[in-house]
Amino acid sequence: MLSVSSPLYDINKTFEENFNNPSFPSIKPPIRVWPDKAHWHSLLGYTLASKIGVAPCAVTTGKGIALLSQLGFDLLTYKTIRSQAHPSHPLPNIVHVEAEKLLDYSDLWAAIYTKKLIEEVSSKIAISNSFGNASFEPLIVMPDIAFAKNVLAEGQVLIVSVYGTGDSLSAMSKDFVTAALMAKEAGADIIELNFSCPNLIKPGEPLYWNVDYVSNITARVVKSMGDIPVLLKLGLLREQESPLKLLISIARAGARGVSAINSISMRVLNQMQGPAFGKRIYSGVSGYPIRRLALQSIKKLAQVNQDEKLNLAILGMGGITLPEHFNEFFNSGADAALSATGMMWNPYLAAQFHQQSEL
Ligand SMILES: Cc1cc2nc3c(=O)[nH]c(=O)nc-3n(C[C@H](O)[C@H](O)[C@H](O)COP(=O)(O)O)c2cc1C
Repeated sequence: MLSVSSPLYDINKTFEENFNNPSFPSIKPPIRVWPDKAHWHSLLGYTLASKIGVAPCAVTTGKGIALLSQLGFDLLTYKTIRSQAHPSHPLPNIVHVEAEKLLDYSDLWAAIYTKKLIEEVSSKIAISNSFGNASFEPLIVMPDIAFAKNVLAEGQVLIVSVYGTGDSLSAMSKDFVTAALMAKEAGADIIELNFSCPNLIKPGEPLYWNVDYVSNITARVVKSMGDIPVLLKLGLLREQESPLKLLISIARAGARGVSAINSISMRVLNQMQGPAFGKRIYSGVSGYPIRRLALQSIKKLAQVNQDEKLNLAILGMGGITLPEHFNEFFNSGADAALSATGMMWNPYLAAQFHQQSEL
């Protein structure tokens, strides 16, 4: 199979190789025409030059964030870190998948196939990733976060995504707190708790489905963060699911907002009907095909937030591959809109959005 790599990330190399030797060959940040400060936006006590940003992904470590900030993304999320080093899964970590249309809930039960031939990568980019939340040791991660924070311009804000593990709720909370304290000390403006990666309590049950776990961990992190706002990263809401109970309890626990959605867990098969990622049967699907489902989740979150007057910030993501897609998220109630897959294959997405907004 032919692999067409992102211009920001070589999918044939490991996360570690990409981190140590990133090559952004032909990317030239265009000159930015900054909006008048009267038109800047406030979010969680910070001022943003625009409401668009990058969601956490394999590119969003120090050097990637430095480049993406120059490319016009103003809300930058450092990829999920852990309190201790953790290796990434073996290659492949990213495959292109065959999904030309926007997915519905009924499509999620079937397997999805890797793409046979990739002639060109379009705005219908669809991938699946399986990294296992790789993280470097604190001695590498913390200076890299500090670097990312220091390169940002006025009007740009750094979120750091963190993740914790443990055999009990108490151990898991403690580990989340340790990772969040690392991020805070390194200079994070905002902390995002990753509750939607395969941090499963039971097989098939992502952490964000468990309101008690989520609110308990959130309360412990919030307590240790002082003034730093804490967000929760959620995955796709189930078709009939209302986020009412979840949002009320996390707001009570002191969370200031939610980010949604994470990539969607699906069974990904190669052309020989075998699992595309070897022993890893399920992996996260992202990019163009998940946009409709992401928007549906954002609408539900925004509705409950408004009805219950929870005052949570809502960060929307999932399938933004064209500049006009950011507006679809704003129109659905998101306070900010972020791209991962779309941005990885089109680093000029923010510049194109800003250009269209000026017209
Ligand atoms: C290669 C890759 C790596 C990702 N890593 C993370 C991560 O470390 N933490 C996280 O919360 N989400 C991670 N995500 C999920 C994205 O942040 C985002 O929620 C999801 O991909 C949907 O947005 P998109 O369609 O614009 O990619 C990753 C996504 C991709 C494609």
